[in-house]
Amino acid sequence: MKKRVFLNASAAAVLAMCSAAVMAQDNTFKIGLIVPMTGQQASTGRQIEAAARLYMAENGNMVAGKKIELIVKDDTSIPDVTKRLAQELVVNDKVNVLAGFGITPSALAVAPIATQSKTPQVVMAAATSSITQASPYIVRTSFTLPQASVSMADWAPKNGIKKVVTLVSDYGPGIDAEKFFKERFIFNGGTVIDTLRVPMRNPDFAPFLQKVRDANPDGLFVFVPSGAGAAVMKQFLERGMDKAGIKLIGTGDITDDDQLNDMGDGALGVVTSHHYSAAHPSPANKKFVDAFQKANKGMRPNFMAVGGYDGMRVIYEALKASKGQGGGDGLLAAMKGQLFESPRGPMFIDAQTRDVVQNIYLRKVQKQNGQLYNVEFDVIKDVKDPGKTK
Ligand code: DHB
Repeated sequence: MKKRVFLNASAAAVLAMCSAAVMAQDNTFKIGLIVPMTGQQASTGRQIEAAARLYMAENGNMVAGKKIELIVKDDTSIPDVTKRLAQELVVNDKVNVLAGFGITPSALAVAPIATQSKTPQVVMAAATSSITQASPYIVRTSFTLPQASVSMADWAPKNGIKKVVTLVSDYGPGIDAEKFFKERFIFNGGTVIDTLRVPMRNPDFAPFLQKVRDANPDGLFVFVPSGAGAAVMKQFLERGMDKAGIKLIGTGDITDDDQLNDMGDGALGVVTSHHYSAAHPSPANKKFVDAFQKANKGMRPNFMAVGGYDGMRVIYEALKASKGQGGGDGLLAAMKGQLFESPRGPMFIDAQTRDVVQNIYLRKVQKQNGQLYNVEFDVIKDVKDPGKTK
């Protein structure tokens, strides 16, 4: 008799423990962050993870009664690996959101998984225009190459750069940059002498830069992904192309804040167009940069960091607004239309396209307090992605 009571009591205890475990599971909100932490794109992952952790440190890990858990995975920027990790995160870890995606092919590889599992996919880095069309569950907090390139194509011909060669990384974002820069530049009366594409993996810029030197344009427009800018800058300067009167221009990926300060004074004066500069003069950005540097041994946040930080905000606010109800669809609905002040300036998630609408700034590399920065000197406000067809 006594034994049975004991057994019943222990069964009840086990049951209680099980339901506590289930509840703990229910009360956890998991974000699967897939980024490259090693390999050519490692700085992207390092920046995004640091920014996500900063956002959590500043905003706590309890939202709408749920405990936020960040699960970070390194995809080494190999799309097949990104896909496998996304599958595991959805099926085994039961994540509520997939986030990160350092390069376009990785973001695209995961799109069908987001659609099938109805899991919001927050793209914090990749920037080919078409990405948001690959799944209705994709929301983007980075930028698009058409957005950044068109502004440069408007600025350059008004500033003495009438004949250019374009040099881009040969994949999605590079092809977008080339196309949208070229079309607008020609529309504005400019001439594009040549369009060069370099391999995305392990590029050797030397033969391409030699071609540019021989063509002797007024300017060289460049897009390379984050992390590759310093190599282009070095070889451009080594060949004396600046002294030959060729102006280096491009999207801000080339004067990446992660590398800029190590590029040396040869980078002074380079003009780029982009959505984020660590030198953006707003109190919100100053606070962000200071906190980021303090938490990361002085590392300067770049545009990848701001994409990660704002992506976390979009997730947190969506969870708050949907009160933890409604699953993936409820979250997605609450991500659409968010409007807020980012360290980059005002930012808006267009409810129709799920893409980011933001200011694009023209910036020139200058010294501030003895360090190289992209100093903003003009702004084109509220730019929608020109790559979206109506
Ligand atoms: C992409 C990657 C980058 O590092 C970058 O600066 C811009 C775009 C991409 O693959 O989409």
